Amino acid sequence: MSTATKGCDEAAEALPWSNLVAEVDRALGAEIDARAFPRELGDAIRYAVLGAGKRLRPILVLLATEAVGGRLADAMPPAVGIEMIHCFSLVHDDLPAMDDDDLRRGRPTLHRHAGEAMAILAGDAMNTLAFEVVANRLSDDVAGPVGRELATATGDMIAGQVLDTLGGFEEGLTDHQRLVTVHRHKTAALFRASCRMGAICGKADPDQLAALTRYGEAIGLMFQAVDDLLDVTQTTEHLGKAVDKDAAQGKLTYPEVLGVETTRSEIQRLHTAADEALAPFEGRGDALRDLCAYLAVRTR
Ligand code: IPE
Ligand code: IPE
Ligand code: MG
Ligand code: MG
Ligand code: MG
Repeated sequence: MSTATKGCDEAAEALPWSNLVAEVDRALGAEIDARAFPRELGDAIRYAVLGAGKRLRPILVLLATEAVGGRLADAMPPAVGIEMIHCFSLVHDDLPAMDDDDLRRGRPTLHRHAGEAMAILAGDAMNTLAFEVVANRLSDDVAGPVGRELATATGDMIAGQVLDTLGGFEEGLTDHQRLVTVHRHKTAALFRASCRMGAICGKADPDQLAALTRYGEAIGLMFQAVDDLLDVTQTTEHLGKAVDKDAAQGKLTYPEVLGVETTRSEIQRLHTAADEALAPFEGRGDALRDLCAYLAVRTR
């Protein structure tokens, strides 16, 4: 594996799930290599997917499966699928018509590297590839429910990006309500689906599925609150993406709507809600508890 395909930053190397990150990276590379893409398209997909991402959503899929007693290997297809959807969302999020960003994961964004047309098309191909992996690699009884989760979450993410970029909210919402609507859709939907797909692959019972759904919703919202906070508290060098852009682009963010201190309390509240959702899993929820604690204090 080249350094460009390592997949996690130095901080994450030391985290308990760094061995899983390496497995996810291998599976992602193998799925891309298995397709006969035109050379430039395959290169663009590899560039977007195999950069230094944290792989949080696939790790959530795998840890959710473990929490309900499932086998990691059975959950790898949705782990790959959700990361493909996430990477597609990042490529399109960075386009000039969207957030217009030049830097992602510490290097030029895909449209900067390979041109706008290729970035649009590579995003489209990643979206399709995600569903292909789920359809091809899961048994028929699981592929349907997992595919539905992935489709719902992808649709919600796109709806959230529309609200974030173009507005179009229903009448009468406060800024806080609009903010939560955007963040639930554009970001929390993929976290929620990650947990639910892991649970489904591990044959969770309905109570376990409901508990992991609550956990996924809480950490998903918390994750975007932290992302918003990092935009106003971190440097571009540290994050590997531009900072101080959200306010300039008129985005609804936690610090903008609630202020920095209330954002921190909100992160704490969501952290507690996520922890409480894990209570039924006792010791089996420890890895998910650790992941949540890391996400509450992460600096990149
Ligand atoms: C960035 O997500 C996009 C948001 C939803 C805020 P990540 O911070 O998980 O991005 P990578 O995958 O590690 O680059
Ligand atoms: C990204 O939100 C959400 C999606 C890509 C769906 P942001 O626009 O805040 O993410 P960054 O800060 O560019 O990573
Ligand atoms: Mg955006
Ligand atoms: Mg952005
Ligand atoms: Mg952001």
